[in-house]
Amino acid sequence: MISGGGSNMVSLLNSMGPSHPAQAVLVIANEPNAGGLAKAINLGVDTAVVDHRAFASRPEFEAALQARLDDANVDLLCLAGFMRILTAGFTKTWEGRCLNIHPSLLPKFKGLNTHQRAIQAGETRHGCTVHEVTADLDDGPILGQAEVPILPDDTPDVLANRVLKMEHKLYPRVLDRFAREDRTLIALNMD
Ligand code: GRF
Repeated sequence: MISGGGSNMVSLLNSMGPSHPAQAVLVIANEPNAGGLAKAINLGVDTAVVDHRAFASRPEFEAALQARLDDANVDLLCLAGFMRILTAGFTKTWEGRCLNIHPSLLPKFKGLNTHQRAIQAGETRHGCTVHEVTADLDDGPILGQAEVPILPDDTPDVLANRVLKMEHKLYPRVLDRFAREDRTLIALNMD
C-alpha cells in the first residue's frame, strides 16, 4: 500500500522475479494522485484506489482496504510510504503478515520529519528500518536496518536521498527473507 511516489514499491516489484517466494498481486493507494499507481501499472501489477476521504471513519476506510485485500487473496502486506495510521483492529488482522519501512534507525525518531529531527539532534548516524506492523506506530519487531552517515552540511533533503537509496536495498532483502519465513535481522551499512 502506498500514498506517494512509490519508489520503495518499485524496488520491491523489481526484486520479485520468477524464483522469488512472493508474487505481487495488488498495489493500493489511498491517494488518487499517487505517482506510484502509474509505475505499478507499467510493471504489470493491478492497482486500486481507496481514498480515505470517502469514508466517515478510519474503521470504514480500513474495511474497504480489507475488502480489496481479500478480493486479491493477499497473504503478505507491505506498506511502502503509506501515510495513514492504521487502527489496532486492522493491524491485529495482519499481525505477522504486514511490513513497513520507516526512514530512521528505530526506535529513534518514530513519526514524521525524521531526517530533520536526526540532524537537529546532532546524530552522526541515521538510516532506515523495516519492521513488522503492530498497533503502536513504528514500533513492531525490527527485521532489518540500514545505516548512513550524517555529514556536517546535510540538509534534510540531502539526507533523505541518502537514506532512500538504502531503503531501496533494504526492503527487497527483508521481503525476500520474510516471505521465506526467515526473520533473521538484516543489517546494511552504506560505508
Ligand atoms: C520513504 O522514505 C518511506 O520510508 C517513507 O516515505 C517515503 C516514501 O517514498 N515512509 P516512496 O513513496 O517509496 O518513494
